[in-house]
Amino acid sequence: MGAAVEKALGALDPDTKARLLAGQDMWSLPAVPSIGLRSLVMSDGPIGVRGVHWTADDPSVALPSPTALAATWDPALARRAGHLLAQEARRKGVHVLLAPTVNLHRSPLGGRHFEAYSEDPHLTGEIGTGYVTGVQEGGIGTTVKHFVANDAETERFTVDNRVSTRALRELYLAPFEAIVKSARPWGVMAAYNGVNGSTMTAHRELQREVLRGEWGFDGFIVSDWTAARDTVGAMRGGLDVAMPGPRTVYGEELAAAVRQGRVAESEVDDAVRRVLTLAARVGALDGVAPAVAPTDRPGPVDGDALAREIARRSFVLLRNERAGAPDGEAAGKPVLPLDTTESGSIRSLALIGAAARDARVLGGGSALVFPDHIVSPLDGLRAALPPDVRLDYAVGADPSDELAPAGEGFELRAVVRAADGRVLGASPLPSGQVQWVGDFPEGVTYEELHTVETVGTFTPRESGAHSFGTRGLGGLRLTVGGEVLYDGEQGPADADDPFEAFMGSPLPRGQVRLTAGEPVEVSLVCTVAPFPDAFPAVCFSLVHRAPERDAEALLEEAVAVASAADAAVVVAATTESVESEGFDRTDLRLPGRQDELVRRVAATGTPTVVVVNAGSPVELPWREDVAAVLLSWFPGQEAGAALADVLLGAEEPGGRLPTTWPKRLEDAPVREVVPSEGQLVYEEGVFIGYRAWERWSGTAPAYWFGHGLGYTDWAYESMNFTAAGDGAGEELGTVRVRVRNTGVRTGREVVQIYLAVPEGDGGVVERPARRLAGFATVAAGPGETAEATVTLGRRAAETWDEAAGGWRLMPGVYTAEAGRSVADRRLSTPVPVAMPKV
Ligand code: BGC
Repeated sequence: MGAAVEKALGALDPDTKARLLAGQDMWSLPAVPSIGLRSLVMSDGPIGVRGVHWTADDPSVALPSPTALAATWDPALARRAGHLLAQEARRKGVHVLLAPTVNLHRSPLGGRHFEAYSEDPHLTGEIGTGYVTGVQEGGIGTTVKHFVANDAETERFTVDNRVSTRALRELYLAPFEAIVKSARPWGVMAAYNGVNGSTMTAHRELQREVLRGEWGFDGFIVSDWTAARDTVGAMRGGLDVAMPGPRTVYGEELAAAVRQGRVAESEVDDAVRRVLTLAARVGALDGVAPAVAPTDRPGPVDGDALAREIARRSFVLLRNERAGAPDGEAAGKPVLPLDTTESGSIRSLALIGAAARDARVLGGGSALVFPDHIVSPLDGLRAALPPDVRLDYAVGADPSDELAPAGEGFELRAVVRAADGRVLGASPLPSGQVQWVGDFPEGVTYEELHTVETVGTFTPRESGAHSFGTRGLGGLRLTVGGEVLYDGEQGPADADDPFEAFMGSPLPRGQVRLTAGEPVEVSLVCTVAPFPDAFPAVCFSLVHRAPERDAEALLEEAVAVASAADAAVVVAATTESVESEGFDRTDLRLPGRQDELVRRVAATGTPTVVVVNAGSPVELPWREDVAAVLLSWFPGQEAGAALADVLLGAEEPGGRLPTTWPKRLEDAPVREVVPSEGQLVYEEGVFIGYRAWERWSGTAPAYWFGHGLGYTDWAYESMNFTAAGDGAGEELGTVRVRVRNTGVRTGREVVQIYLAVPEGDGGVVERPARRLAGFATVAAGPGETAEATVTLGRRAAETWDEAAGGWRLMPGVYTAEAGRSVADRRLSTPVPVAMPKV
């Protein structure tokens, strides 16, 4: 590979080299046919592969959210997810997947919390390693992102995060280090934010010295989209590729900087070498065998089946009490799984919640993909319930008071016209959203397009006053049934995020009374405004909301449905305006009147199961008053099928919390996401997540890191530790834990190993009381035992010595603890750590 890359490099002139380091459009690098280099295509993102079209007419398999993947605590499953994503990428002509996101859950308010894995760097590193390994085994590159400390969204382009070197090393850099060393990713994405005074795309110390120098990373570094701002700074800082194009600080500007002697040609050559190496690895450089031969790729993966498997393995059963006795005292079986067999107690089921019918399966922003189908909880349960079990549905409460992109009942197409009215092209629109980013319908160029009309019919499901509205910028003219509801100019918002500014919020423009089943003509003409930063993009939406029903009447209907059933399942969800890229949350409450809905349903006395459909922590103030709480995250396209599997007991829920859930936001030890004068100070140092909860133990969280129940019980029977050699190597030794399945059905247990610091530790530096040092998943039938074997890495007994600028082993007698969560530790054994003899 090396010789071919050198040969290709030698054949390039300086301008072409500079051009090769800049996006030619939103998603790709230019081809150079003279050296046999094809255009390298990149695409988001963690839960699927969107491809170069940002629309629903190019569907993708949508897996559960990254928080859900991490909740499986199963790197092998993450690897299988990677195999599917590689298969999807190949199908869509994508060479590099813009994932995984391995930033940490520092504050529960972080807007992209759902898109990252965990509050714990070890768990994040293990899941990320599985994921990257899987994608790359399929011959597709990854960009581990966002390097580094991109843990919140407020002022995301400019914030300078002030983080101690120790916290960087022990927390935020740690997953990147683990993944670079064990999965050897072909790419890393430099974050928008700055760290300690330097914006990340130009961060020489972290990119060149730590990532490449110390860890031996040999892939390419790509900027987050528009993150590179300075030609010379980025090149010196080690950034290889500036995205997106066509206007970037590389390309022509880089060529000029080389000519003027401001950038050394050798630095450009190094960056081009890395791009050519990437091309060779993914099979886009003629004459070089790709890193993975097609015959060595994993076999075909069934996307629907895998999405369903990951979903049910990720669901976290937070609580499961005996029916009729919320305090768990009374005899009888726990409410889950629901016994719907002929002799069982459940002959009728109430399903309640807006998200039970219109499932919320993924988070918003660049992680968005468009699946070709979504199994809602209502569909999933209908399909799985025995025919003699009655299922009644009620909305109960609508979590959103906003208009949503036109969907159900709309038949729409987009017609593109030039300024003189000539039709340039058209394309079908599966929803009211037009989101063309650098990619337009056939025959259309961004330069020539003037208006885009979303036009077609709407056949309502219900009679009444339907609301219509618009989202986006530019001239907008909205007509429904011949009536003009809006004709005006929507000016730019003052947001500094071009995507946010452009998309904006949905705005109601008027109501029209319609009759169920009678179609009406709709049209929204957008006179396209230039996209900020000169992106060739068109983004606007026709939005709609069905006639609103009285909120009190909805609640009463839900109570009536629940009262008449043997059990009630309430699906409570967040919305796109709560969890998305581009902004942080301001509270952790479930939107709308959902808390009240849960309380009123539970008060009927019907055993109530609450399914929490959210990508990140929400407050569950009623959690002690309901029979069961099942966290389904953003469960991906097979949401309802997986939910039926778990609720009805075909499978047990397999998830364990990858992040501690507070009772109330105010209790969370680290919350701040809003910078002050451009800086966000990580004042808490190395104490985030459970490390912080254990230190500031004023109050207990609702559910600790690692918590999650299954459908069987486990006894922890024995534990031992065997030291590895003389202590000079990378491993401390091996822990073995024997567990017994004491329940009546086969189950899977995640055996978690925490390493607690020696008694009286803290003389030199204060360390967290314990940290997750390893874990293993085992399965066993009723009465059977299984052994978990976990290797403890030396890093678990090290701390970053700020003064010496290196890792320092802290000798002493540690305690390895085996348990079911960080707070539910069942067995322990001493782990003596001595300084290696020199
Ligand atoms: C996000 C990245 C994403 C990129 C391309 C950015 O706004 O931060 O995670 O990969 O857009 O869509």
